[in-house]
Amino acid sequence: MPSALDARIAPARRVTGRIRVPGDKSISHRYALLGAIAHGTTELTNYSPGADCQSTLTCLRTLGVAITIGPGGSDTPWARTVTIVGRGLRGLQLPHAALDAGNSGTTTRLMSGILAAHPFASTIVGDASLSRRPMKRVIEPLTRMGARFEAEDGCLPMTIHGGPLTPIDFTAPVPSAQVKSAILLAGLQTDGLTQVHEAVPTRDHTELALAAFGVSVELSGDAIGIRGNQPLSAVSGAIPGDVSSATFWAVAAAALPGSDLEIVDLGLNPSRTALFDVLERAGAEVTRHIDTVALGEPRGTVRVRGRGLRPLVLTATEVPALIDELPALAAMATVGGDLHVTGAAELRVKESDRISALAAGLRAMGGDVEEFSDGFHVRGARRLTGGRPDACHDHRLAMAFAIAGLAASSETVIGGAEAVDVSYPGFFETLAALGRAD
Ligand code: S3P
Repeated sequence: MPSALDARIAPARRVTGRIRVPGDKSISHRYALLGAIAHGTTELTNYSPGADCQSTLTCLRTLGVAITIGPGGSDTPWARTVTIVGRGLRGLQLPHAALDAGNSGTTTRLMSGILAAHPFASTIVGDASLSRRPMKRVIEPLTRMGARFEAEDGCLPMTIHGGPLTPIDFTAPVPSAQVKSAILLAGLQTDGLTQVHEAVPTRDHTELALAAFGVSVELSGDAIGIRGNQPLSAVSGAIPGDVSSATFWAVAAAALPGSDLEIVDLGLNPSRTALFDVLERAGAEVTRHIDTVALGEPRGTVRVRGRGLRPLVLTATEVPALIDELPALAAMATVGGDLHVTGAAELRVKESDRISALAAGLRAMGGDVEEFSDGFHVRGARRLTGGRPDACHDHRLAMAFAIAGLAASSETVIGGAEAVDVSYPGFFETLAALGRAD
């Protein structure tokens, strides 16, 4: 993490422009991990520059994977080109050191699924936030498959004793793409059919990435199935812009009437675009256009125009598709809107307790926020004053407070704003470059 940064946000009346956002974090992790266990060299452009996706590369290097990282992939300064020399299924090497996953839950959980089948012990460590997050959700199914774990209270540091695995039929108790992915990756290293049943669908990047690397994924009803020991072939391609990063600009445009913002080269996978439906419901004018589909992932352009906000209610069935977007939507609601969220207890075990920390930060800016055990209610009738919210080492909270600050009556100073680098280095530079009427 870079040194502590207080970011100063001046009010703005509207935002305009045409922008790009960094490569998708979820897709970058998956292509890197699959590239490492594929045959051949995977070449990725526009790989996410965020610290989380760097953590995945660092862990893979510690496991003997040859990786080169260079600039490039789009005309933005942050774009990265990454090449990964695949070692084949179960080809990772005994690590000489602990695997440092930093702040990244996705690295930890997906990596566990791969390491569960490797015949050695490996230890994953992480920062203070990651070390508080629940890993039992992967430990339990992977133990059923045959791996052995040491993890006090189900938290990092976590030692994985891998070995031969048997397939399972698993019904997810909490909707989680990370858990689903860990099991599918472990299932790929068994002799039979592993199935994951999802009551509420979660992002399907793992399924699409596996297919792009040549693995057959069997979908039937609520089940995602994978047969073991299918070889993977390296891919080449560009990673689309991250819709969860674009969210911050989209909500700013929706919240500030008169705004007109276009986001290009953006991932538009339908399992990630619920945000745009919600923005339309809230009163924004949103147009989307898919330009291409590459490696199974659609990408295109989104334009958002602000027209004033209507109240929003989100419940358990909608929450999984919006889980990373809720801090930004809360920020939006402070600008004369109203957002009532339930069924979102998962927010308490993200990079911070995103219910308490979000409520505390918005209140520090003059916001009217009620906290529930599984959600929150933001009433935006009273204009924010600005103030000194604390990002609590959480990248999405730092960005949400920045967007809320645009509509405040005076300056906002965000403590711990360096956290944005976890997913979006360049966030504050883009904010400064946006067309805005002050
Ligand atoms: C992710 C899945 C989500 C999301 C996280 C990234 C992924 O977590 O919150 O930022 O890449 O699979 P869960 O699957 O735990 O809900």
